[in-house]
Amino acid sequence: MSSDIFIECENLVKVYKIGGLEVIALKGLDLQVRSGEMIALVGPSGSGKSTLMNTLGALDTPSAGTVRVGKHDLSRMSPREKVMFQRREVGFMWQQADRNLLPYLTAQENVEFPMILDGTKARDSRQRAQRLLTLVGLEHRLNHLPKQLSVGELQRTALAVALANQPDLLLADEPTGAVDSQAANHIFDALHTLNQEFGTTIVIVTHDHTVIKRVNRVAGIRDGFITTEIIRRETDSRTGGTEQEYAVMDRVGRVFLPPTYIETLDMESRIRLLLQGDHISLYPEYESENANPR
Ligand SMILES: Nc1ncnc2c1ncn2[C@@H]1O[C@H](COP(=O)(O)OP(=O)(O)OP(=O)(O)O)[C@@H](O)[C@H]1O
Ligand SMILES: [Mg+2]
Repeated sequence: MSSDIFIECENLVKVYKIGGLEVIALKGLDLQVRSGEMIALVGPSGSGKSTLMNTLGALDTPSAGTVRVGKHDLSRMSPREKVMFQRREVGFMWQQADRNLLPYLTAQENVEFPMILDGTKARDSRQRAQRLLTLVGLEHRLNHLPKQLSVGELQRTALAVALANQPDLLLADEPTGAVDSQAANHIFDALHTLNQEFGTTIVIVTHDHTVIKRVNRVAGIRDGFITTEIIRRETDSRTGGTEQEYAVMDRVGRVFLPPTYIETLDMESRIRLLLQGDHISLYPEYESENANPR
């Protein structure tokens, strides 16, 4: 494993059993994320995004395969190690704003709370809470209760809470799911600031085009695998830059074709492959070709 790879999933499988039924949520997923990278996960409902996030955060144990975060092998962690990992090394942010905060504590107290639980001195917790809330643009909301904040402000507070104990990894599952695009932009600005300020590796699940446009790496997940990746090469996250979409090939050479391509060419199970010097062409197999292979 190269030294700046921070997250590494190899052949990750997750099977949920409910009653006699098995649901295979992850089907041998591979993923590598570099330290300090910000990556968005996109994909249809039920494709395994939250399952992957829960696995990366050690809330769920993989059924097979390996998942490493930093120096931790999450597939073989004791329950106690998991608790410490969740408290110190990973921060979570959920779509439902009310799942992120305690209703009877102010914004600042909410941010201090995980630090106090972890034994940080009161004065240090207070200072760090104020710094984090300032970084997310809420220095004027320190003493507000959650019910006095807008949803966008709640999510930015949640971000400060998630980073309270200085985790190396932030997992945000649909953090902008319930806000308009202006608030989504503010939340994204806050994510970007914290990523730059602390070098926190960030994985965001999102359907939000405001967010997708502003992240340099977008991984498409379908049916329990990463199937596509969009990589942007540029420096300014607001303007977007050159963008390249890739299909992802797995260890045994499987590649998923985008559904729109398949539909456009009316492709079915068999595809004609032609190696042509420096590239490969794929053709739909029509019946006439079936009868008369060239
Ligand atoms: N705790 C669970 N028990 C049983 N099945 C589950 C459980 N969690 C998820 N699943 C199933 O695993 C599959 C993947 O679910 P997951 O929640 O990861 O999808 P998702 O990509 O996050 O979808 P959404 O965009 O709707 O949030 C689905 O078929 C889902 O029904
Ligand atoms: Mg989900």
